[in-house]
Amino acid sequence: MLGEAAVKHSRLTKPYSEKHMDETFSHPQYRVDLRRYSEKEYNKFVRVNTVSDWSLLSWKDVGKPFEVTNYSKERTEWEKKNDQVMDPHTSWTYFNKSFHEWFIKDVPQEKNQSKKHFLRSLTSFKPVQVKQAIGDLVQLQLWNYVHRIQDGIWDPRGKRALFEGLHVHRPRILFLGAAEGYEAMQLGAMYPGAEIVMVDYDEFCKTTRFGEFPEHYPFLGENPKTGQWKVIYKDDLNIEYVVDDIRNLDFGKEFDIVLSVGLLEHFPDEYKPEVADWHRRFLKEGGYAIMTTPRNQFRSRLYYHVMADVMNHTYRELMTVEQMGLYMYEAGFDILRHGYIKVHNGLICQPR
Ligand SMILES: C[S@@+](CC[C@H](N)C(=O)[O-])C[C@H]1O[C@@H](n2cnc3c(N)ncnc32)[C@H](O)[C@@H]1O
Repeated sequence: MLGEAAVKHSRLTKPYSEKHMDETFSHPQYRVDLRRYSEKEYNKFVRVNTVSDWSLLSWKDVGKPFEVTNYSKERTEWEKKNDQVMDPHTSWTYFNKSFHEWFIKDVPQEKNQSKKHFLRSLTSFKPVQVKQAIGDLVQLQLWNYVHRIQDGIWDPRGKRALFEGLHVHRPRILFLGAAEGYEAMQLGAMYPGAEIVMVDYDEFCKTTRFGEFPEHYPFLGENPKTGQWKVIYKDDLNIEYVVDDIRNLDFGKEFDIVLSVGLLEHFPDEYKPEVADWHRRFLKEGGYAIMTTPRNQFRSRLYYHVMADVMNHTYRELMTVEQMGLYMYEAGFDILRHGYIKVHNGLICQPR
């Protein structure tokens, strides 16, 4: 069995194979999860279809999203210094650097250090230092729980459940606001022969968030020769990464899937129809738009509160799947599947 220590010391770049099917391992930075789910369990990973007729739903029924208003120190200090509101592009460059630092932490090691730091701070009798040390420890514990124990951010089983059963063959996939590109890689593993184009206007995403995404992270996908499960790695996939503003893209209607993860909720209502249109503009006839946004649940509100300095550089809303679906329905999409996974809502939709 390849546990944490074994992988850490393993020289193999592809340490997992079909032999490890249905196992899960805790790595210092993330969880590896090669567990499948049975048909019976499907609804445990994606809870689907609470709305039967979107035309009957109104904003009065579903209410509006919750806006996260406690911004990071980096943003508030930048705004004070520059005497202006931070523009979205700058805010994303700060966010991506800050978020990436958490994905590369050796969490068990940092937790030990952080505990020692906390004990030392107690002997200093300085309330500011003690408060800071407690804050650091709470953030690390929360990150450990959300990312390494629950696997809520990558959530491979939830994403596989949400993405399964699409009628596509060797699909071309466009990922808008791709960041590290996780979900397009999961889709690419599930639909063999995929050609993936990732787009993000923050170059750091291409060079570092995606560039340094762990080569030995296993995605569970399909073997095209046998139709059986197969473990697939980043470098098995066909990926092009474009650094540009989505507004500048000049693709035709050439993609089978247009995907975004955590994009729609960063735009106030007056911009949402434009964001919806980005998901329509490059889709082939019969293609799918796939979107996820963070859920408006108590745990998520707590997460964005405790992790404000790490996460809150940009305008952000938390919404329900009904609110997300209504935005897309009103923007001219049919909702084929809607549901929620661990921390995100998900939609599969098609232009009407
Ligand atoms: C919240 S992130 C996506 C969530 C991602 N899974 C993560 O882990 O950070 C949204 C990404 O969209 C990118 N983005 C936002 N607006 C964009 C635009 N107009 N053109 C290109 N990229 C954009 C940002 O740079 C950012 O990396």
